[in-house]
Amino acid sequence: MTHLPPGFTILALETSCDETAAAVVRDGRSVLSNVVASQMDMHRRYGGIVPEVASRQHIRSLTPVLEEALAVLPTGWQNIDAIAATYGPGLSGALLTGLNAAKAIAWQRGLPFVGVNHLEAHIYANWLQVPAPVATSDTSPPDLPAFPLVALVVSGGHTLLALLHDHGHYELLGQTRDDAVGEAFDKVARIMGLDYPGGPAIQRVAEGIPRSEALPRAWLRDSYDFSFSGLKTAVLHKVREHQAQTGTSNLDAQFVAQLAHAFQESVVDVLVTKTINAAAHFGAREILLAGGVAANTRLRHELARRASVPVRYPPIWLCTDNAAMVAAAAYYRFEAGVQSGWDLDVIPGLKLGA
Ligand code: KG4
Ligand code: ZN
Repeated sequence: MTHLPPGFTILALETSCDETAAAVVRDGRSVLSNVVASQMDMHRRYGGIVPEVASRQHIRSLTPVLEEALAVLPTGWQNIDAIAATYGPGLSGALLTGLNAAKAIAWQRGLPFVGVNHLEAHIYANWLQVPAPVATSDTSPPDLPAFPLVALVVSGGHTLLALLHDHGHYELLGQTRDDAVGEAFDKVARIMGLDYPGGPAIQRVAEGIPRSEALPRAWLRDSYDFSFSGLKTAVLHKVREHQAQTGTSNLDAQFVAQLAHAFQESVVDVLVTKTINAAAHFGAREILLAGGVAANTRLRHELARRASVPVRYPPIWLCTDNAAMVAAAAYYRFEAGVQSGWDLDVIPGLKLGA
């Protein structure tokens, strides 16, 4: 364990998917800057992410995003003590742009460098202090998450439940066997004719619906794994049935709202039940929620209502992909004395705990 000096400042880059992001974080928790350039509008035209387009766009956006992130520092580069970047999981071409830029910066400036697992970074968004303090002077001991803890990571590409014994000491308890939760939200939204990304659209139309006819839940007994493809098929059947009954392919708003509500209830019930069971079984002191789907208010409230330990989740702007969370994860790597070599390559299929 290396004791990092107070004020230790990390510049992090994140380019694993369709967001080009750079952030500067002090002491592993104070977000000095957090810049995210989204490619969402560009990919929306194609109805999904096009890897080649993503890589090209990262190359275009990286320098302006980096400059903007550094602009807040009074003495610019001189304030930076270390560099970090995501090296997986994600799209290989996209990951390469951020990782290579980070390595080049670290090499050129003679700074320590570490590669970060994107899934771990999502969890570490919970270590960031919000709102970010202006001063960095030592105040009372910060309220940090307490180990052991159970983390539920739910995003467009991932769905997993992990047990964290300590920094860098993780156990994967379960993961999805088919679609990621966010992916299921996006696909079901498309089936119902709602906008992309589907998560916020489904949440919006389901709001205010008091109850709906229950859809199936895949419990996969005696396992912390998840499955959402059966639920997606059930929604598709409901839509077809409705279209056959009404004799038109147009879906009326009330039908869509009811179905969106039923879908969301089914997903939330399975996620919450498995998470609180895991927390109880492993004696977790806290539950952390992370990833883009952690923005879902129904999931947040239901988890907080049913859990018997505190539930922590980041603000929405730190749930979706960003580089501040990468810096937070990197801080504890550096503190453990870990640094990456110049030969670190991207690992598109990187798992948690690897
Ligand atoms: O973490 P993220 O920004 O990107 C990945 O790394 O995948 O997550 C994006 C996903 C999308 O699938 C989107 O539909 C979902 O998060 N999402 C939501 C909500 N906001 C975003 N899902 C459910 N409810 C929301 N409010
Ligand atoms: Zn992500």
